Amino acid sequence: VKDKILNEIDLILENIGNERENLIPILKKVQTLIEGNYIPHEVAKHIADKMNIPESEVFETVSFYAIFNDKPKGKFMIRICDSTVCKINDSYSIVESLEEVLNIKTGEVTKDGMFSLDYSPCFGACDISPAIRVNDIVYGNLNHEKIVSIIERIRVGELS
Ligand code: FES
Repeated sequence: VKDKILNEIDLILENIGNERENLIPILKKVQTLIEGNYIPHEVAKHIADKMNIPESEVFETVSFYAIFNDKPKGKFMIRICDSTVCKINDSYSIVESLEEVLNIKTGEVTKDGMFSLDYSPCFGACDISPAIRVNDIVYGNLNHEKIVSIIERIRVGELS
C-alpha cells in the first residue's frame, strides 16, 4: 500500500474522529480508496494502530459485515442474492448464467479485474427476484438473456 493511501487514511481518521465507534464509517471510506475495493491486512493494521484498538477488532469487523471485503474485488462487484425468495425464483440458474458469461466461479474475480461475483443476503429486491446488485445498482426479474445483455452493456461502457 502506497504512502499516499496511508496519508489519505490518516486524513479520514482525522475528519471522522478516531474513536472506536467510528470504525465502520472509517472502513467504509477507506475501502473506496483502495483499488479492488477491499481492506488489505496492512491497512487494517494501520487503522488499528492509529485508533489504538486491537488489530483483531478491525479484522473481525471486516469479515463480519458483508459490505467489507478482505480480498480484492472487481471494478464491478456483482452480488447475487441467495436468500429465500430469490432461491424460490431460481436464482441458481442466474448463478450458472453469470459463471458462464464471466467465465469464473462465485467468489472469484475475472482476470481483467473487471468483475467479481459473490453471494449476498437479501437486499430488499424480493418483489423483482431473482435479483443481482452490481455495485449499487439492482437488476431484477432476471433470466439468462438479461444477464448476457447486462454484462455486455457493462463491458462496452453503456452501463456503469
Ligand atoms: S430474497 Fe432476494 S432480494 Fe430479497
